[in-house]
Amino acid sequence: MYVQPADAPKRKPVTVPGLRAMKARGEKIAVLTCYDASFAAQMEAAGVDVALVGDSLGMVVQGQSSTLPVTLDQMVYHTSLVARGLAATLLIADLPFMQFRDPATALAASARLMAEGGAAMVKLEGGSDWTCEVIATLVAHEVPVCAHLGLTPQSVHKMGGYRMQGKTDDAAARLREQAQAVAHAGAGLLVLESMPAALAGEITRALSIPTIGIGAGAECDGQVLVCYDLLGLTPGRRPKFSKDFLAGRGSVREAFAAYAEDVRAGRFPGPEQIAG
Ligand code: KIV
Repeated sequence: MYVQPADAPKRKPVTVPGLRAMKARGEKIAVLTCYDASFAAQMEAAGVDVALVGDSLGMVVQGQSSTLPVTLDQMVYHTSLVARGLAATLLIADLPFMQFRDPATALAASARLMAEGGAAMVKLEGGSDWTCEVIATLVAHEVPVCAHLGLTPQSVHKMGGYRMQGKTDDAAARLREQAQAVAHAGAGLLVLESMPAALAGEITRALSIPTIGIGAGAECDGQVLVCYDLLGLTPGRRPKFSKDFLAGRGSVREAFAAYAEDVRAGRFPGPEQIAG
């Protein structure tokens, strides 16, 4: 394992059942995306609860225009790098585009992310009937699953761009139904991306599994940001829901720690990051 900073605090490992217990206790969950061992070690030392190896790596690491070209081999590789930097922080890895198109493919891909990569949980996008069947199969085979609803980047072409979801009554009702369906299928965690804050709050209160918001307001049980957005490294305009936590601070670790503290204290996202 990668050497932790000498002054890294010792923490109790974050576990999948532990996330649900955090929700029950009203403790907010701080999640960041992560793609390599050096950043993982800083997240570990900063006390971030969960590191997510997102397929956003296609855009922020590889410079692609979408997440679709990311391969399973690349996800396994980056997950294994991140695993070496972590100790107590929980590791989640994304199932890339088309790698959960049916239960058998999803099982094979998840086995690689967990056994070779070291992930404790896999994430997949969508909440349709077939997705729920995949979730149920994975959970039945001891693979913890994080679902992802709202703006699902792998559907960029179907959605016609990266747009806020759930704005009409019908779309909001569909998201409420899908949230219930993925939880019923066995998902242990749910990412809610780019949807009105009130809708994300409603979904959060209706479920016993924790929700993790990104561009979905302050009422989710936790928050996730792409780590490069948080460090002000995003080329072009930073997403409105994000914040540069490195500004005015001396190190990456301090920026990660400030983010985790602000999430836990309910200070992030603040009014300036909340849309809709
Ligand atoms: O791929 C990713 O990084 C994600 C998060 C932004 C939720 O899915």
